[in-house]
Amino acid sequence: MVDVTEFIDDAKAEIREELGDSTAIIALSGGVDSSTAAALAYEAVGDQLVPVYVDTGLMRKGETEEIREVFDYMESLRIVDASDRFFAELDGVTDPEEKRHRIGEQFIREFETVAEEVDADYLVQGTIYPDRIESEGTIKSHHNVGGLPDAVDFEGIVEPMRDLYKDEVREVARALDLEEIISERMPFPGPGLAVRVIGEVTPEKVEVCREATAIVEEELEEYDPWQAFAAVLGRATGVKGDNRVHGHVVAVRSVESRDGMTARAQELEWETLQRLQSRIAGTIDEVSRVVYDVTHKPPATIEYE
Ligand code: XMP
Repeated sequence: MVDVTEFIDDAKAEIREELGDSTAIIALSGGVDSSTAAALAYEAVGDQLVPVYVDTGLMRKGETEEIREVFDYMESLRIVDASDRFFAELDGVTDPEEKRHRIGEQFIREFETVAEEVDADYLVQGTIYPDRIESEGTIKSHHNVGGLPDAVDFEGIVEPMRDLYKDEVREVARALDLEEIISERMPFPGPGLAVRVIGEVTPEKVEVCREATAIVEEELEEYDPWQAFAAVLGRATGVKGDNRVHGHVVAVRSVESRDGMTARAQELEWETLQRLQSRIAGTIDEVSRVVYDVTHKPPATIEYE
């Protein structure tokens, strides 16, 4: 990207031209990509764009409230509470690709419902360059690429950021005055905390992951990681009070990266690691053990599933 202002002007012109007088819909996840795409398209066509935020129950702590505040200026914004439906879909599912698939499908169903309600002709998406590359290589299925609601006969899809890398998206977000909370936010996967819970995704495990992730984000802010989060790996024996417990094992992951395609595990101070384990195992009852993931990408991926 040569110049941010020029990119924004061109993208807005492209969106206006594609949409004409039609109504468009966009999935607003709260991540940098979809937020930036939504803000860009909303600047271009106003309430002709209907941003839809689906609360899957797999979001980070406080995320839905933040979205409500940050995007309050978009009168057409829809917030759908679908957490019960997502957990029902994930009940008993342990295969990583199957989880992603079911989440993607449920997303699509939620969209279809709103798209039909508002009679949307176009779909705007926050797809960026690395999403397209990884999907082409089938490293992992990204639900925001290729997962189109086919019950809705869209006239077209608009992907204004299809050639941008993540750091360029952040530049665009800053230029659009998107609040720091969004523009500087760590990338967050479409399937949410589900890809950070190994095995079956239950409301209880997701809650552990959510609470632990909030602690990790807070404690590691000074390291300025590309992504830092907690994952729930399985269970292991521990001792809490006078009792032996079979609690959750929480992994802390903190990586540096430019575009998410490769990454390096961050070197953390021992005191930081100890503070993390004491806060996570100390304040979350169900956690008996905390480990730090030292694996780079490759061979690991950033997320766990
Ligand atoms: P992995 O785990 O493949 O992740 O090393 C690379 C980057 O992509 C994010 N990620 C996703 N983003 N939908 C998304 O929008 C997805 O399904 C998805 N899976 C992974 C991940 O957080 C990291 O930044």
